[in-house]
Amino acid sequence: MTMMNAQKTTERIYNFSAGPSTLPESVLEQAREDLLDIQGTGIGVLEHSHRGATITEVFTESLELCRELSGVGDDHEILFLSGGGSHHAAMLAMNFLPEGRTADYLLTGNWARVAKEYADSYGRTHVAFDGKASVYDRIPANDEVTFSDDPAYVHYCSNNTIYGTSFEAPPKTSAPLFVDMSSEMFSRTWDYSGHAVSYACAQKNLGPAAGSCLIIRKDLLERTNPGLPKIFSYAANADKESRLNTPPVFTIYMMGLVFKWIKQQGGVSELEARNREKAAIIYDAIDGSGGFWIAHAEKDSRSMMNIPFRTSDPEMDKRFIAEAQENGMSTLKGHRSVGGMRASIYNAFPRSGCEALAALMNDFAARNG
Ligand SMILES: Cc1ncc(COP(=O)(O)O)c(C=O)c1O
Repeated sequence: MTMMNAQKTTERIYNFSAGPSTLPESVLEQAREDLLDIQGTGIGVLEHSHRGATITEVFTESLELCRELSGVGDDHEILFLSGGGSHHAAMLAMNFLPEGRTADYLLTGNWARVAKEYADSYGRTHVAFDGKASVYDRIPANDEVTFSDDPAYVHYCSNNTIYGTSFEAPPKTSAPLFVDMSSEMFSRTWDYSGHAVSYACAQKNLGPAAGSCLIIRKDLLERTNPGLPKIFSYAANADKESRLNTPPVFTIYMMGLVFKWIKQQGGVSELEARNREKAAIIYDAIDGSGGFWIAHAEKDSRSMMNIPFRTSDPEMDKRFIAEAQENGMSTLKGHRSVGGMRASIYNAFPRSGCEALAALMNDFAARNG
């Protein structure tokens, strides 16, 4: 079958990877140029000192764009730091879970559970919700969440990459809210100001791996655990404007290009509208298949970014993944804890790829249903 190839505009294939994942082509092209020589300096972006004028400018621009896209004011600090989502899940507990206090965790998926396990090494945690019994296939209603008395903070994961579920709105609490947005930051409009901490590893919606973007309320920084080695202290990192040590320069540079690209596309609300349509193309193929395709997530909990689905037969799933690969659609194999397929369709993933997948799904179901 070659029907999908006609829709492609470049030699690149459709990459449904959950992360690292598809980045905007214009960003990659700019990076290709800047690798050899950025801004006519005669030095490539990877070769400049992190304290020199060129990278300082890159830093400042990335920060300003991030502030603009998130809409946060001066009461929030933006940090671009080394380490991925896991590092910061652990560091948040190190910094903000004092002895004698409890931190609440909503377990809506693997990464939310991992964050809680890391926090267990530093202090007391409380499970405010656990979706394990139904294999994390839904987001809880507010009345299903039971908080501890006066938690130091409440941590949740707004988009569950593996299980394809997403919070429509944050859980309701007066405690400081910490959210892991690794697989959806800047894919939809979001109340960053209303969160004490919003954080994301870069390698899904923001850029390459090795760094994270954190938006932290400044008053919280004053409560950072004073006993930490400086390098693990958010307050110390904020004090040095994310350059306490050598930061992941390339990731920060790429995030800046991606932020600029988001603005050029019309901003986060425009991308949200596109993302909604892109996801609907695939969900329609699932829902219109008369039960041939089965979505993992419950309907009212569905993610726009990650769509795990399967047939009732694991052998059939394998055949579908092989056919998709033959048709220029890669990395559709689902996470081992869910099986089947997973389509990750972040901001930069093209609509034509969603159409190609849906067309193949319809065709495959007609031949095998
Ligand atoms: C929602 C979420 N949080 C955290 C992580 C962990 O990120 P890292 O591999 O950068 O530690 C991931 C990775 O897939 C994720 O999807």
